[in-house]
Amino acid sequence: MTSTKPRLLTGDTPTGKLHLGHWVGSLENRINLQDDYECFFILANMHAFTTRMDKPEDIRQNTIDIAIDYLSAGIDPKKSTIFIQSEVPAISELCFFFSMLIPYPRLMRNPTIKAEIRDKNLGDNYSFGFLLYPIGQVADILAFRPEIVPVGEDQIPHLEMTREVARRFNQVYCGVDQHLEDSEHLAAGGLLPIIAPLIGRVKRLVGTGGPNEQGQLLKMSKSLNNAILLSDDADTVRKKVMGMYTDPNRLKATDKGQVENNPLWIFHETFNPDKAWVSEAEDRYRNGAIGDVDCKKRLVEVLVELIEPIRTKRLDFENNLDYVLDVLRDGNERANAIADDTLHDTKEAMKQIF
Ligand code: TRP
Repeated sequence: MTSTKPRLLTGDTPTGKLHLGHWVGSLENRINLQDDYECFFILANMHAFTTRMDKPEDIRQNTIDIAIDYLSAGIDPKKSTIFIQSEVPAISELCFFFSMLIPYPRLMRNPTIKAEIRDKNLGDNYSFGFLLYPIGQVADILAFRPEIVPVGEDQIPHLEMTREVARRFNQVYCGVDQHLEDSEHLAAGGLLPIIAPLIGRVKRLVGTGGPNEQGQLLKMSKSLNNAILLSDDADTVRKKVMGMYTDPNRLKATDKGQVENNPLWIFHETFNPDKAWVSEAEDRYRNGAIGDVDCKKRLVEVLVELIEPIRTKRLDFENNLDYVLDVLRDGNERANAIADDTLHDTKEAMKQIF
């Protein structure tokens, strides 16, 4: 498959079904970019093993679930390639070579790694493979030599490492001058592009729950039990929204309410296409002239309208798993063709073709 379109790569670690945070953080972007970019979407199942090596069945199921979420949300396998990380061996080979280009102390300063060790309570027990995964992600990306990589904000440190590895590779093995601008690397004979991140319109969607001890609202995350899934039915969405955290000091509809830092309004601002209604309702909320329940009901309608078509398509794909697996096999084949090319060129630059 040759394409004249610029290439895009991104993906997800299969840890559970996708939720609204994935939608505004990245999925929505991907669907809109499908016509203008040659898109590759990686299901990073090997990464899932870094923290859940004892759950192979779950990881298999989650991988299939995310593929179904993609297809249901509108990723079109005729336009885009969805593939499985472990089915593309060139990625692992590149990871080995690339791991030599990042000093170990540099890896340990990666803020996303530090945050994960803290938030997942990994203590001193994280595996060697856990520390390897950012380099694995560098390989996921560079194997496809894409131009852009749309991700959520938490992935930026990994993309910065991707840029560092590509620069270093081009300097060490392709003779690119170390003072050259990023944009000049390819023209100067560099093999690997210095990729650009692309952040979704909402950097970090809050969950449906209240703040932590520091008063900060937490990001939507399945493990924090504050997520609305793309696979939730209308009843579940209603229950989650009606029970969501709002302004804790507002006890009745005539109390003045706070709009800022209030998930109810963050969700309306993010998902409600009727901007005029939102700003008017926000004013009334501030003045104690509209009830929480009315605003929540409206939010239920908005979210169900977004999620319900996705969920209905999901049911079709769940009943046709053979089709989903065919899409993945086809994607793996296309992905291997590209990644093998990169591996070959990489080895050539490193003088390791025998
Ligand atoms: N680490 C990413 C996440 O957990 C998933 C991922 C793996 C990825 N490889 C990637 C994202 C390559 C973008 C590009 O969300």
